[in-house]
Amino acid sequence: MSNEHNIVILISGSGSNMAAIVRAARRDNWAQKYRARVAAVISNKADAGGLAQAQELGVLTEVVEHQVFSDRDDPRGAFDAELARRIESHRPALVVLAGFMRILSPSFVAQFQGRLMNIHPSLLPAFPGLHTHQRALDAGCRVTGATVHMVTADLDSGPILAQAVVPVVLGDTAGTLVERVLHQEHLIYPAAIEAWLSQHAAA
Ligand code: GAR
Repeated sequence: MSNEHNIVILISGSGSNMAAIVRAARRDNWAQKYRARVAAVISNKADAGGLAQAQELGVLTEVVEHQVFSDRDDPRGAFDAELARRIESHRPALVVLAGFMRILSPSFVAQFQGRLMNIHPSLLPAFPGLHTHQRALDAGCRVTGATVHMVTADLDSGPILAQAVVPVVLGDTAGTLVERVLHQEHLIYPAAIEAWLSQHAAA
């Protein structure tokens, strides 16, 4: 249906942000408010825990395994092209990266420019890349958090849509921070998506 605003969520892991988004979409009635729904969850890993969660939530799942393309001349380009083809088959208004742990090529990002969103477990522009919680601890930060941003060709540096701050307390480890930050991620990601929908997809 042309006036549907489909959301495609990309995951690589446990999918807790994906589940928070699917639940918020239902709880807050995005279908009625924005004609929006989560049309598909796509993982680059067949064993991603989030796939079973999505199926339990009744959301269509697909797998595009990046390893399948490892013997190609341009493995990243070939994977990104197939991933883009599968995403576009759902005619998405918005593509949401939720713990999707692959760096996307500039041509992929260009194809989805303006409709590609990510969540990152730090207060960007601090700590782009990996191991954000350990790096925040090593730097002696007293606060850390999470950032929702639009994706641009430069890693973890597109326009910021939302941030949540969490305290770093005595005795914290990367593990305790993961939990505290994830709790906030599950609040700010659905809220940022709904704010985007209210601007771009009002029914
Ligand atoms: C989240 O903490 C997310 O911010 C992070 O991966 C985790 C996925 O958890 N994303 C990145 O590090 C992206 N570079 P989830 O699979 O339970 O949503």
